[in-house]
Amino acid sequence: AVTRHYKFDIKLQNVTRLCHSKSMVTVNGQFPGPRIVAREGDNLFIKVVNHVQNNISIHWHGIRQLQSGWADGPAYITQCPIQTGQSYVYNYTIVGQRGTLWWHAHISWLRSTVYGPLIILPKRGVQYPFAKPYKEVPIIFGEWFNVDPEAVISQALQTGGGPNVSDAYTINGLPGPLYNCSAEDTFKLKVKPGKTYMLRLINAALNDELFFSIANHSVTIVDVDAVYVKPFDTETLLITPGQTTNVLLKTKPYFPNATFFMTARPYATGQGTFDNSTVAAILEYESPKTIHSSQLSLKNLPLFKPTLPPLNDTAFAANFTSKLRSLASAQFPAKVPQKVDMRFFFTVGLGTNPCPKNQTCQGPNGTKFAASVNNVSFSLPTTALLQAHFFGKSNGVYIPDFPITPIFPFNYTGNPPNNTMVSTGTRLVVLPFNTSVELIMQDTSILGVESHPLHLHGYNFFVVGQGFGNFDPNKDPAKFNLVDPVERNTVGVPSGGWAAIRFQADNPGVWFMHCHLEVHTSWGLEMAWVVLDGKLPNQKLIPPPADLPKC
Ligand code: C2O
Repeated sequence: AVTRHYKFDIKLQNVTRLCHSKSMVTVNGQFPGPRIVAREGDNLFIKVVNHVQNNISIHWHGIRQLQSGWADGPAYITQCPIQTGQSYVYNYTIVGQRGTLWWHAHISWLRSTVYGPLIILPKRGVQYPFAKPYKEVPIIFGEWFNVDPEAVISQALQTGGGPNVSDAYTINGLPGPLYNCSAEDTFKLKVKPGKTYMLRLINAALNDELFFSIANHSVTIVDVDAVYVKPFDTETLLITPGQTTNVLLKTKPYFPNATFFMTARPYATGQGTFDNSTVAAILEYESPKTIHSSQLSLKNLPLFKPTLPPLNDTAFAANFTSKLRSLASAQFPAKVPQKVDMRFFFTVGLGTNPCPKNQTCQGPNGTKFAASVNNVSFSLPTTALLQAHFFGKSNGVYIPDFPITPIFPFNYTGNPPNNTMVSTGTRLVVLPFNTSVELIMQDTSILGVESHPLHLHGYNFFVVGQGFGNFDPNKDPAKFNLVDPVERNTVGVPSGGWAAIRFQADNPGVWFMHCHLEVHTSWGLEMAWVVLDGKLPNQKLIPPPADLPKC
């Protein structure tokens, strides 16, 4: 293992897409941001220097941060933001993880422009559980707004309505040829015939789950959220914001000069407006030096385009996710908690709050949009929760009374919906060290059913079950998979359904859990867990670094 140093200068950069130029917040002037490459076991020092007017913090999405919660990054959860002119060194060790993760700003909507890949190679001398690919290529999906996304969310919060949607999706920062004024801004992947490429897919889009497909090629899924899975082939895949997926793409033997679209567009189940456009990149076969007679018929091939599922294809989503299984091999076992110490049942969904007096609100029936977990819409404190916890100063910052079941039980997927009102608060769950947790997340139909990608910081969890309708505590647990469930850090709670996860609370600290659709986070679809120290030295949160930002 080695120590790796990176420097992230947060600065403004002019970027032009779709013939619109804007000055936007970037890391080192790059969009998408720089790629971090490390090996399992390495120690990272990433110095972030803030040269812009916005406050900022960076989250290393999916990194366990064992005992090093101060480096996790969500603003007002594990740290105060880095203010203008200030800097902070994120120092952490990558323990027991290898695969594709990513990093992004974790304050307001700055992650729309501040994000990049975080690639963890296996330890030196350790092989992948599949043949070594010829090449590895990060493919990072994003969303482009012609305007400043910070203005989009602040306007939505002020009016109580839904935000304006993005103008394009991007692949490696480029919208591609299906948009006006964008043909030059197309990501091209040149490939050789008969080779295996590993695509490291990352969904960094703000507000949309995406379907992805490559024309005339299927891919083999080998890893999700930096955990190996049992390989399976698919022509189309689904990836939610926050998720990563490694796939193997085997190129065909003879396709001189052929070009294929790789496209992505949303899987959307909500009632609101969304950007329903399609991003395309191009897979281009190199031209061979000599053309064999059997290949002549393949000259001058058209551009091949894939077909993606309909925008609301929940059946595809359910079928695809049901195929994801942990590899669960001797070398990479699935350590699924077999017994449970504490059970939780959380509703996740959108709701509304009354419109404040003297204001007109653009939410449903003149109300204000809100989102909640168990009817609690989370409000961020003005100081960091982790500091408050570590220094024993939680009074006035948070209340450790997060409801472990819904305050007002109702028919969660019924129609017509009821119980739309939510309360606000900074309420947390406190867990003793090493508690084995089972959590059922139930989507609600308060404003129409919708799939929510729930992300937990500081942990991976096992998705032991999922289904549609109301979770049935008498029947559903018998069907849980406790052998090889997929292990990940972000799970799509099915539209009008539920997901059951288990994790072992072996990482002390304060850990945010939220919907990775950014607008839902802005509306309060989140909560946090406090995990107490254990008795042994390697079960305790380390003290904060001296340069930890102050609020
Ligand atoms: Cu990728 Cu809390 O986020």
